[in-house]
Amino acid sequence: MAVQRLDKVLASTGKWSRREVKMLVRQGRVLVDGVPAASPEQKVDPDAVQLCVNGEEIAYRRYTWLMLNKPAGYLSATSDGRGATVLDLLPQELQRLGLFPVGRLDKDTVGLLLLTNEGGLAHDLLSPRHHVDKVYRVRVTGCLTEEDCRAFAAGMVLGDGTVCQSAGLEILQAGEESEALVTLREGKFHQVKRMFAQRGKPVSYLERIQMGKLTLDPALSRGTFRFLREEEVEALRNNS
Ligand code: URA
Repeated sequence: MAVQRLDKVLASTGKWSRREVKMLVRQGRVLVDGVPAASPEQKVDPDAVQLCVNGEEIAYRRYTWLMLNKPAGYLSATSDGRGATVLDLLPQELQRLGLFPVGRLDKDTVGLLLLTNEGGLAHDLLSPRHHVDKVYRVRVTGCLTEEDCRAFAAGMVLGDGTVCQSAGLEILQAGEESEALVTLREGKFHQVKRMFAQRGKPVSYLERIQMGKLTLDPALSRGTFRFLREEEVEALRNNS
């Protein structure tokens, strides 16, 4: 891998800001191959050196993967003149890593959103060819029935002629307001909302709770994120 500034490499782990790295380097607490780092701007090849901070070896990852619990009111985009994006929920040092959302959730949709700078895997996860299931918890106005389940399973054709693949609909609660889980293998524009609109039961709440084998971490409150663990990234790789 190409050489990079030491402060950039360490800040990309999300543990320290660049300012904190500067301080750690000044205090002699950052070792590069066992030797105290000369400066935060020192160039290192993170794949080829051993980095220790406060006596602990740093496992450097070439790519960054984050799980975000998206709140309502944020756009799934990297920059947008029209309002706040999900990147605004990250600290400055992570905003500099070229992260982008893996697929889109509508502005009012909440829940599991992955962010990464690994383009290839992100692309695979979104491709319908790779059959990565996305599961949504949904609340609709109107009473969901077995007929709705059959319509979802059959593959719906939307009003504008858009053909949807077979989708799962599991009714959790049926009444004037109903709740259900929806499983999709694709991600067409406003797909869940349009499918329910077609059945005459508009969506009032939409939350993504699962993508492939990854489920939304219950420890993450809305608007917070965490790094994916190595084995979680591996699971995505094997699923895609
Ligand atoms: N389907 C929708 O309609 N909106 C989303 O945000 C995701 C899936």
